[in-house]
Amino acid sequence: MNKIIYLDAAASALKPDSVINAEADFLYNSYANSGRGVCARATAVDDMISHVRDKVAEFINAKSNQIVFTSGATDGLNRIVNILLSQPWYSSSSVVTVSDLDHHSARLPWEAALHNGKVHKMLRCELDENMDIKIDAIPKTDFLIITAMSNVLGRAQDVQKIIASARAKNPDVITIVDASQYVVHHKIDVKKWDCDFLVFSGHKIGSDTGVGVLYIRDSEKYFPDKFGGGMVSSVGNINIASKAEHGAWIYENEKDSCWVTESAPTKWEAGTLPLTQIVGLGVAIDELNKKRPDLDLIKYAYDELAKMEKIKVITSRDAAILTFVVPDMHPLDIGALMGAKNICVRVGNMCASWIHKYLGVTGSVRISVGPWNTMDEIKQTVDVIKQIVK
Ligand SMILES: Cc1ncc(COP(=O)(O)O)c(C=O)c1O
Repeated sequence: MNKIIYLDAAASALKPDSVINAEADFLYNSYANSGRGVCARATAVDDMISHVRDKVAEFINAKSNQIVFTSGATDGLNRIVNILLSQPWYSSSSVVTVSDLDHHSARLPWEAALHNGKVHKMLRCELDENMDIKIDAIPKTDFLIITAMSNVLGRAQDVQKIIASARAKNPDVITIVDASQYVVHHKIDVKKWDCDFLVFSGHKIGSDTGVGVLYIRDSEKYFPDKFGGGMVSSVGNINIASKAEHGAWIYENEKDSCWVTESAPTKWEAGTLPLTQIVGLGVAIDELNKKRPDLDLIKYAYDELAKMEKIKVITSRDAAILTFVVPDMHPLDIGALMGAKNICVRVGNMCASWIHKYLGVTGSVRISVGPWNTMDEIKQTVDVIKQIVK
């Protein structure tokens, strides 16, 4: 059987041996729950979690108490909406601004809020001739969703300038960055960007599924969105005056009974965390820091495919992925024919309907590379595409 050529890193990355081995080692030799036990094995897991949290914080230039483990980017993006909508100061007259670069996971939670009358208006950022967010045209808004890199176009947005432009119009704007694709290819600096929230998934950078990162700049400021074990410091008759002291929220159940949330990040992590996946996330970050995907592979494919008359390449030569359409062929057919040759690519609308609508197509074919891909694999892939689209 021919070897599989896996060119779908942007959907989910293959896992390095080091990630698999670290997870297996944890499961075989060190497993225990975190935040609950007092035996050496349990406290070692607590140390492991805080070590990975520190590593994630350093990875995006944040502080450790601003890093919340989630189950993935979609979870984080939904939680952000739930967090914001449940704050005492939240107003349903709010305006949210999105863009056609957004993945369904970034925009649909806001569409649902709009539908339920929790948001007054949804605006869209304009795109320029390169299909980048037009920085000067960002409208005045209360909330701004920024897809730092579209999963269809693969171009890095200038997040720092976008946020600065939005803040010039409204200093109180709350900015939410979806870094799910950007994180694979570029260093993130949340301090420099000055964003309020940021998310990414572990599985796209080589760790397991089921773990993601949610960065909350003012992590002590918000009332939490999820409740349960591990995030409450005390329950009972507590002096309300202790609120300022704790820097935490006090929730009053009845007149004489209340509970106090832990401080961040614990107050954001109700219930048992995906411990094994967090182990893998730490190792995946080490691997990514050593080696990122080689984008010369994408440039090679671009140079070959862009000169073919029947192929319309949508992405630019310097993009992190290559997306194309063949006007008289359905993307699903191309995907199936490539699949028959053991080449895995993504086809369809890629959970990014708006950019496809903007481009006037219903779907496309995407080639995305991970650190495991070679030039030889890309050359074979280009040859197969040439045979399919002759
Ligand atoms: C830009 C972008 N945002 C969000 C997501 C959602 O990620 P997940 O399915 O891991 O939650 C994806 C996944 O493809 C993505 O590419």
